[in-house]
Amino acid sequence: MKVACTGRSRVLGARIAEHLGAGLVETTLSRFPDGEIYLRTGVLDEATVVVGSLLSGDSLVELLLLIDACHRSEVMLVIPYMGYARQDREFKPGESVSARAMARALSHGVSRVLTVNIHKESVLSHFAVPASQVNLAPVVGDFIRGLDLENPLILAPDKGAEPFAAIVASRGGWECDQLEKTRISGEVVRIEPRKGGPWTGDVVLVDDIISTGGTLATAARMLRAQGAKGVHAVCVHGLFAGTALDLLGSSGINQIAASDTIEGPNSRYSAAGPIAARLREYLADARVKGFSR
Ligand code: R5P
Repeated sequence: MKVACTGRSRVLGARIAEHLGAGLVETTLSRFPDGEIYLRTGVLDEATVVVGSLLSGDSLVELLLLIDACHRSEVMLVIPYMGYARQDREFKPGESVSARAMARALSHGVSRVLTVNIHKESVLSHFAVPASQVNLAPVVGDFIRGLDLENPLILAPDKGAEPFAAIVASRGGWECDQLEKTRISGEVVRIEPRKGGPWTGDVVLVDDIISTGGTLATAARMLRAQGAKGVHAVCVHGLFAGTALDLLGSSGINQIAASDTIEGPNSRYSAAGPIAARLREYLADARVKGFSR
């Protein structure tokens, strides 16, 4: 078995390969004069773990080309960050359900799909092959333990992030709470104060995604105004769209950490361990059922 990865998932792909003790497939990519992508892989094995986050149109095309180039091998697809998952239903008549469209497109030529903290679990049912996710909450908890904060409060910025925050908090036996968020627009949110009252110690805001940074910046400003000693932010997928990092920096957040599902300067912990562990489970299961290579 080998691991092949797209350009945006090179670091994570290499880490997964290392965990699995597998080789990396060399991939070359270039562009035709009109901008179309050309992709070629080196020597493949009988089974290939293809790793590629879905971040933009180009990353989708690259992923589709990589899967196609691996067609002589059995492909297990890892989508560390599954973009387009937030439009998971038809909110207004005539809208495309982008999560479904992506899942359908990425079901061809693969035997199964694994992703990480997908925005809504229901999206997994749109894949035409078995699809599941790994939850990085325990890894986030362990990462926070390494920050050596004194009895931090783990805070979810909205109801949706509460189950994630609860698992994070359980890793350190810390207190956990949630805020109430109302989204006014793509960039602007309103956050109600914490029901549990002001917290004067360290607060760690945890969320699945940081996109514009609006959610966590608004929460951080409020917590600072209420006297929080330090405000730290840890997410799984650090998109940091546009001026998100400036916005977060000016909101009084001490530090921002994300995983390597989207590789960047704030990637401070890795999803590789849990992904590799799940892949090993698949392989063991396939061996037991007798259809593994
Ligand atoms: C929303 O439900 C998500 O969990 C995140 O809170 C959201 O995507 C963050 O977006 P932004 O950084 O743009 O506020």
